[in-house]
Amino acid sequence: MGNESINWDKLGFDYIKTDKRYLAHWHDGEWDKGTLTEDNQLHISEGSTALHYGQQCFEGLKAYRAKDGSINLFRPDQNAARMQRSCSRLLMPHVPTEQFIEACKQVVRANERFIPPYGTGGALYLRPFVIGVGDNIGVRTAPEFIFSVFCIPVGPYFKGGMKPHNFVISSYDRAAPQGTGAAKVGGNYAASMMPGSEARKYGFADAIYLDPLTHSKIEEVGSANFFGITHDDQFITPKSPSVLPGITRLSLIELAESRLGLKVIEGDVFIDKLDQFKEAGACGTAAVISPIGGISYKDKMHVFHSETEVGPVTQRLYQELTGIQFGEIEGPAGWIVKV
Ligand SMILES: Cc1ncc(COP(=O)(O)O)c(C=O)c1O
Repeated sequence: MGNESINWDKLGFDYIKTDKRYLAHWHDGEWDKGTLTEDNQLHISEGSTALHYGQQCFEGLKAYRAKDGSINLFRPDQNAARMQRSCSRLLMPHVPTEQFIEACKQVVRANERFIPPYGTGGALYLRPFVIGVGDNIGVRTAPEFIFSVFCIPVGPYFKGGMKPHNFVISSYDRAAPQGTGAAKVGGNYAASMMPGSEARKYGFADAIYLDPLTHSKIEEVGSANFFGITHDDQFITPKSPSVLPGITRLSLIELAESRLGLKVIEGDVFIDKLDQFKEAGACGTAAVISPIGGISYKDKMHVFHSETEVGPVTQRLYQELTGIQFGEIEGPAGWIVKV
């Protein structure tokens, strides 16, 4: 069945109510097997820890309509594992990897008519989440939990081709040095709303966060990870306990080395040493690979390759990654899971 009501070329990143979502409950020490439901409203206790104390976490991954017509999930086992780490950090029960992937597949199948056709550049974005629910008032772990997965069709991040964006260094932190930065939990995103909105008010694409302990090293680019390509072709990406370990970042680390022959370094990216890079970019499920034109720091703009043109290494990484996701190029073993 097609979907005549969606203009695939106009899709952005906006909520659209799709047909079905997966819903499972945890009580008495285990998850039930979950069901698909048409209802997109949750009815939860007013005392839910998710509402008061931020006891919740989420994931983001995409299903792609591949060149041969099949449907690809990109490394969903990695999203399952990251959600388990987020759950551990906030004292929530793990969703087993098998149940996580099965829930994603069920949601994709039940909403197949919302998957953007191959060639449009769009994908079906999946949003799994776990929230603490049930009657409660004290700061303690919830008596019950919900695991749900919903989906929305999203357009390509860049309409009309890949373009560099400018970013600004924020004076705010999104996470604390030994806090929850490495977990995909709502609190980090709540903390990033004001800096992000200030950055956009001044015409930047988003805020870049420095390490919260010394404010001397780049950590993250809005809701994406940073990478830079040095003049001698090293791929460098920050390593820190307060950075979210992105699955796109993890994948680029492997592709940069195995397919582009770059030396990969996970380490410090000092804000006063940006001139070591000939190219820089942001990477993530939503951002895919977004070239960074320039970074504004203390009212000075540092431009990398160009503010208008994409650098050649960034372009190659983009082609390799999206080629694998859309089934045009063979990926490393286990990266693509067919729905
Ligand atoms: C803060 C933050 N950093 C990095 C990423 C990139 O992670 P991934 O590549 O798994 O989407 C995201 C997006 O999910 C994010 O929200």
